[in-house]
Amino acid sequence: MTTRIIGTGHFVPEHIVTNDDLAQFLDTSDEWIKERTGIRRRHIDTGMGTTAMAAEASKRAIENAGISPKEIDLIIAATSTADEIFPNTAAMVQREIGNDRAACYDLNAACTGFIYGLNTAHAFISSHMAKTVLVVGSETMSRTVDWEDRSTCILFGDGAGAAVVAADDAGIEAVIMGSDGRKGEIIACDGRPAQSRWMSQAPRNPYMVMNGQEVFKFAVKKVPETIAQLLSQAGVGAEEVRHYILHQANERIIASVAKRLHVPMERFPINLDEYGNTSAASVPILLDELNRNGALKRGDRVVLAGFGAGLTWGATLMTW
Ligand code: ACO
Repeated sequence: MTTRIIGTGHFVPEHIVTNDDLAQFLDTSDEWIKERTGIRRRHIDTGMGTTAMAAEASKRAIENAGISPKEIDLIIAATSTADEIFPNTAAMVQREIGNDRAACYDLNAACTGFIYGLNTAHAFISSHMAKTVLVVGSETMSRTVDWEDRSTCILFGDGAGAAVVAADDAGIEAVIMGSDGRKGEIIACDGRPAQSRWMSQAPRNPYMVMNGQEVFKFAVKKVPETIAQLLSQAGVGAEEVRHYILHQANERIIASVAKRLHVPMERFPINLDEYGNTSAASVPILLDELNRNGALKRGDRVVLAGFGAGLTWGATLMTW
């Protein structure tokens, strides 16, 4: 018995911001952004928020799975951009989908969040603590980046993606997760200052700061290493995997991973040209697009992989 993805869904805001739109107020160009990242445009939230996007993606995943929301035992919301400190995003999604008994919690592993969530769901199902789990990744990255900092803001977009997973005979074959907190400052966001009667912190930067080149070096080394380890755990060859669904951060990172694994680029689907980097939402958005357009066939081997702030990384191997 293992864990199978039985339904997927996604939601992205309607409002589109192109590279040319950014060049209106930033010292950048469509050419620079396309060449360095592969991104052409991104969808930006104009007021819905992380929870509402998560709820919409979740409803679509539940409908796609053909189950009642009441069957869900656990909801994990992967996000680093929750609307509120509490209640958690997952509980607010629970309210929207019409479930009143599942355990609900948020998980913050930045861009690796969905993979962490999926692997955690697998652990719950494998240990018989849950039968059906909803994992949703949702982010409003547009509220976390400084729109005057061209080295970060051009990379990100908003959206949500979800998957319903359940116990089944085939599905997840191997999982891997890791972190290296020593490199936390490479990509970080301080958030609000701590204030209380007894403590007062100096103002903190509410926006993300990132050493792009360090993140790039980390990703092109760690992601292929992680995938190689994952495949060796399961005794599966890289060529046996039909789809490598990677976190959509930068097309050059994905091309480098493909090269290091000696796998043709056509097995690495890409949608970052349309959405930019949507952090924890990027893998489930792409997964849902492939599921709905018929690209994923029963029996296909699929690898999902992510990396991000923490630093964190993770991957999942499954038979679709
Ligand atoms: N437009 C025009 N010029 C720019 C821009 C921009 N938007 N941003 C930076 N530049 C300039 C720099 O100032 C620099 O100018 P200089 O040579 O005069 O000093 C020049 O372009 C080159 O800058 P680099 O930082 O060296 O550019 P690089 O080729 O490394 O590309 C990038 C930058 C795209 C950020 C790349 O490093 C990258 O993709 N890194 C990975 C980042 C990432 O994926 N982060 C998210 C992952 S983690 C998570 O998802 C939360």
